[in-house]
Amino acid sequence: MTDSPPEDKPAAEADANRPYSPGLEGVVAGESSLGFVDGAQGRLLYRGYRIGDLVERGTYPGVANLLWTGEWDPDHRLPTAPIPPAVLTVLRALPASTKPMDALRTAVSAWGTTQDLPWPPTVEQARALTSFSPSALAAFARLRAGEEPIEPDPSLDLVAGFLYQLTGSPPDPATARALDAYFIVGSEHGFNASTFTARVITSTRSDIASAVTGAIGTMKGPLHGGAPSEVVDQLSQVGSVDHAEAWIREALDRGERLMGFGHRVYRAYDPRAAALRTVAEGMEHKPEWLQLAIQVEDVALRILAEKHPDRPLKTNVEFYAAPVLMGVGLAPDLFPATFSLARHAGWTAHVLEQAADNRLIRPNVNYVGPPERDLPA
Ligand code: COA
Repeated sequence: MTDSPPEDKPAAEADANRPYSPGLEGVVAGESSLGFVDGAQGRLLYRGYRIGDLVERGTYPGVANLLWTGEWDPDHRLPTAPIPPAVLTVLRALPASTKPMDALRTAVSAWGTTQDLPWPPTVEQARALTSFSPSALAAFARLRAGEEPIEPDPSLDLVAGFLYQLTGSPPDPATARALDAYFIVGSEHGFNASTFTARVITSTRSDIASAVTGAIGTMKGPLHGGAPSEVVDQLSQVGSVDHAEAWIREALDRGERLMGFGHRVYRAYDPRAAALRTVAEGMEHKPEWLQLAIQVEDVALRILAEKHPDRPLKTNVEFYAAPVLMGVGLAPDLFPATFSLARHAGWTAHVLEQAADNRLIRPNVNYVGPPERDLPA
């Protein structure tokens, strides 16, 4: 195939009879055996396993390993990795006002310069990058606060290690467990924009650091990485469960939307929210945020069902992501970058899957510009 239009048609019409779907909506752009998003049934499966079961019986390192290798080993461990000195130098040079997503994207790009990352990408490369990034984000968060980065503790698994390097003290098991559950539900979600970016980059036989650098850049956009911080805003306005009913009714009467409810794909209860809620409810000492969220959710679901009897409006993942992230003590501006840390497992698994059966991703475009013409004299 060439890039030039067929000779018998004007350029503007070259592909005019080919179907075009803005945003590639509804277009099947690949095949994957990693994640299955079933919006109608409210199911999310990783390699066939239900997300709820993975959260209940697994850990983030075990789930990442499942995505990379297809093998289920619940005892799989992955501590955070040290930061190469050159990357630390780069992180130290960033202005304190740098956005955490920019810092993480820069760190991953710099990490790529310190590694030997030959084609094809390997599980070892995926593991190395996934265990490096939490250390980098934690180091950035400390540096911008005028504190020194903390070395990884190899006795801690990835999520507990991240919290330790962020705060300077090992987290209590329940806190680590809640954030680990968030990491599991954030690991993978089909052909979303950042994952697709990672696959496009990989399809050129570029390296895994470049693929994840591009993916972070894609996730940075507010249409993707989102802002569970809006849920935090609403919950703080509600303040306490006693005010929930009145606050929700007034907000809906003003035509506002309840953040963390409704979903474009899921018509049933978002399985990721269900899994996080189960973890939240099982915590002996629930952080205040989680407690409030659990109570407010029941009121909100009742009122939404009453107002929209014909349209199922259920809880989505953002509703529980927000209080989990607040509850473990993360600053709200770290939420999108923390989501990116979780998605490393999915991104790198897609990199491996793309490389294993690679074909350069190069779609067509309908040319709609002027027909061939002479330059003005
Ligand atoms: N709160 C109150 N009403 C809601 C609502 C919400 N969160 N989500 C949808 N609705 C209502 C709409 O007002 C609309 O009512 P109407 O028919 O009386 O006008 C109806 O449900 C359908 O809304 P629509 O925008 O067509 O639904 P959608 O499937 O296209 O929207 C979202 C999906 C996610 C954009 C939407 O549910 C939303 O804005 N949710 C809040 C933001 C959020 O939590 N985002 C994170 C998603 S993971």
